[in-house]
Parts: sequence; C-alpha cells; structure tokens
Amino acid sequence: MDIKEAIKARHSVRQYRETPVAEDVRKELEDLILACNAESGLHLQLICDEPECFNNLLAHYGKFRNVRNYVALVGDKDQEDLEEKCGYYGQKIVLTAQQMGLNTCWVAGTFSRGKCKAVIDPGEKIVCVISIGYGESEGKKHKSKPLSKLCEVPEEEMPVWFKNGVIAAMMAPTAMNQQKFRISLEGDTAVITAGKGPMVKIDLGIVRYNFEAASGHKGR
Ligand SMILES: Cc1cc2nc3c(=O)[nH]c(=O)nc-3n(C[C@H](O)[C@H](O)[C@H](O)COP(=O)(O)O)c2cc1C
Repeated sequence: MDIKEAIKARHSVRQYRETPVAEDVRKELEDLILACNAESGLHLQLICDEPECFNNLLAHYGKFRNVRNYVALVGDKDQEDLEEKCGYYGQKIVLTAQQMGLNTCWVAGTFSRGKCKAVIDPGEKIVCVISIGYGESEGKKHKSKPLSKLCEVPEEEMPVWFKNGVIAAMMAPTAMNQQKFRISLEGDTAVITAGKGPMVKIDLGIVRYNFEAASGHKGR
C-alpha cells in the first residue's frame, strides 16, 4: 500500500481485536518513533499491552473497546508549535501503521490522562494519544466539506500535485471532523492555515502531513 492508498484507506477505528501487535511490527513502530523524536524534539512514546488508559467511562461512552496499545504524543510545554508538530509526526506514524495493516484513532478527549502510562518529564505535557491495534473493522469514510469551502483555487486551475495534496487534506482526520483549515496557492507554494477553535493546531499538523505526503511538495 503506497502512501496515497494509506491516506484513502485510513478511517478512525475505535474497536479492536485481541490480537497483540507482533514483536517485529512493534520494533518497526518504535524505530519510526525514535526517528520522529530525533527530527522534531518531541517525546513520542509507544505503549503496548496497557488497557487502563482507555478503561474509563469517557472511553466507553466514546465507543472505544479493547484498546491495549497507544502512541502518547508528549513534548516540551514551551516548544514552539508543539501541537502542530504532534499533529504532523503523529499522522506520519498513523499512516505508517496503516501501511503495516494496523488501525488507529486520534484521541484528545476520551481517554484517561491520569491512567496514561507515558513518561512525562518535568516541563513536558501530553497533547493527545493515538489508539493503535488490529481493528474489528476498517472504519468508514468521513463526510467532508466541499472542496470550495477548503480551498479558493478553482479545481480546473489546480496543478496536478496541488490537487493531489488538497484531496489528501480532505481525507485527513480532524477533531470532531471540524475541517477548520484553508489551503491556498501563492506562486508555486501551497499555504495551509488553521481556522479558530479547539485543537485546530493539531489538525493543522495532520492536514499538512497528508498534503505533503500525497503531493510531494512542502507546504508553508
Ligand atoms: C486532534 C483530534 C482529536 C480527536 N479526539 C477524539 C476523541 O477524543 N474521541 C474520539 O472518539 N475521536 C476523536 N477524534 C477522531 C475524530 O472524531 C475523527 O478523526 C473525525 O471524525 C474524522 O474521521 P476519520 O478519522 O474516520 O477520518 C479526534 C481526532 C483528532 C484529529
């Protein structure tokens, strides 16, 4: 599965099978996380075989079942763009996991911060987590705003790479499926901006990763 196929195939999955994540798959995810941490300065962590973080009323109410593995998105409170970076590198992990046959869900609210087993060093905070495992299903496609609400450039005027990026951005997960982002084209550079509201900076990082991975062009 290439990256564009992974973007298309990925949907939130909240119910998982008992199957543990195999050792070699775990190792590959851990290596990826180490590389993301080295590049970003974040303190992302994979936590496996740990059911407590999603064993609370909020998680049950949110229809999570059998979550035993998650990636904790942790970083320095004072780091510039902490939330956007968590979104960007978190989505890189999400799409790689998808390519490895795993399913995921971004979770900022419906997990127990108190029971989360991540190491949070002094000066750090946990931004959110990503549940990970073998899903009971592949999830389903989210409803999207029309392209014209997310991007001013008329479709027929879009360069092919830009259109690929915008389509991938429309498929990106956003908190409560709010899709509060805009994409424009300045010269030959894509400019991606966040609207206002809760978690829009995490969303911005996620959208940016999808855009760049599918278009092969860095955004601003
Ligand atoms: C930053 C962020 C936070 C989220 N927090 C939660 C959450 O607390 N509980 C939950 O059930 N889903 C949560 N979601 C999942 C979104 O509801 C979901 O991604 C969105 O509806 C789009 O659907 P899709 O992921 O299937 O494309 C979150 C998503 C993002 C990006």
